[in-house]
Amino acid sequence: MPSRPWRITCKTDIVAACAQWGGPVGIEDCGASREAAAYVDARYSRPPWAKGSIGRADAAFLFDLIMRERPRALAEIGVASGVSTVFLATLLADRLRESRLYSVDKLSVFYDDPSRPVGAYIGETFGEAPSNLTLGAGVTSTDIRLWPSRPERFDFVFLDANHMHPWPCLDLLSILDLIEPGAWIALHDIRLPLRQANSQAFGPLYLFESWPGERRSAAHGDADIGAIRLYEQPSRNAAALIECCRIPWQSHIPFSEWRSALDALSHTNFEVREELRAVVAQPPLARTSNRAFWEITIRGPNPWSRIPHDLGSAPLILHANRRGEPAISVSVRRLRRSECSGIVFPGFKRSPDAPGPLQVELSLVANGARISHRVITLDGPEANFAFLRAPEETSGTFDLDIGVSLIDQAEKISGAWVKFEPLQFV
Ligand SMILES: C[S@@+](CC[C@H](N)C(=O)[O-])C[C@H]1O[C@@H](n2cnc3c(N)ncnc32)[C@H](O)[C@@H]1O
Repeated sequence: MPSRPWRITCKTDIVAACAQWGGPVGIEDCGASREAAAYVDARYSRPPWAKGSIGRADAAFLFDLIMRERPRALAEIGVASGVSTVFLATLLADRLRESRLYSVDKLSVFYDDPSRPVGAYIGETFGEAPSNLTLGAGVTSTDIRLWPSRPERFDFVFLDANHMHPWPCLDLLSILDLIEPGAWIALHDIRLPLRQANSQAFGPLYLFESWPGERRSAAHGDADIGAIRLYEQPSRNAAALIECCRIPWQSHIPFSEWRSALDALSHTNFEVREELRAVVAQPPLARTSNRAFWEITIRGPNPWSRIPHDLGSAPLILHANRRGEPAISVSVRRLRRSECSGIVFPGFKRSPDAPGPLQVELSLVANGARISHRVITLDGPEANFAFLRAPEETSGTFDLDIGVSLIDQAEKISGAWVKFEPLQFV
């Protein structure tokens, strides 16, 4: 996966990045507009029985994105109680009268309370389904291409379905040829496993964080939502999604489920389709590492660092080493390739008080040679993501080295630290 050279927070930077790297790269962290906040106050609602739905801050993010893009045919994948469906249908009825919402859920009942039909809150709110909504109860993302009620093309997608990686990639690949190039895809729960330790569903996080193109995420309230923008070239979208599918899977998805995705790719180039076929024919499955055999070695003095006993369940804080001190801060030794095919760094951030840009260096080393290596510059406070793969031919064990350094030697080094969310040994 190509390293992202910088993080971007404003539009002009995105334009500059496009010019230099030949494609949109970047992220905008968005606060909600006043108009969004006022609209949500007036129109968002959620009944007490509706579990697992979008909250007010998520709704405000959707309001701003939808009002900016003004889509005509919106797909919603994942209805459940119907809270987000009610919000979106209300928004379209109030502000975008020509637009239509197509909402699907693989179940015909609400997953948390099977005595209620899927989208029960729609009936509770409107009496009968509003005229701008087509509801597909019992329609799975992989069925949408064959769903007779679908429009020819969608120009916006809200994806909030199965969060186990790589389901979000499959959901999108299955309808890729039905989505307008350049459309935005909103993803709910992009930080779920970082917010809730007992919820280890990394699909939206991996997809959002590994997306090499334009992105936005909500930076207000308790929002947990972001959006990625499709490229204009379909093969680029497919390639980015397939790249994400190379991160070891949290749940096995049988080959038969990928038929619609392979069909959707039949219009892009042949190599991309064959690449997907190769990945899903022999999926990289996440493994459970036997942590008893690891050994953590602290190389630098790092008096301010915080190194937990188990890097997989608690955050790691590494202070930058000074000139003359070891370049590697922490090593995890004797990871067995048979149990661990790589390491995901789901989120690491520079301290807000850092005196200057910091550099994070991540390496996998086997028999004294580097088998995978990434250098990432942190020059802003945004979360970063990385995945390092130990190639299949790696035999026996390998080590993980993590180093944090200051790019410019600063007089004052207080605040020169990076916080890593629990690493995933997959
Ligand atoms: C988190 S809930 C959706 C919440 C809803 N968007 C809201 O905010 O009110 C996820 C829903 O996705 C549905 N789902 C899971 N996998 C799916 C798939 N592959 N296709 C369609 N729906 C799916 C589940 O049945 C569940 O109802």
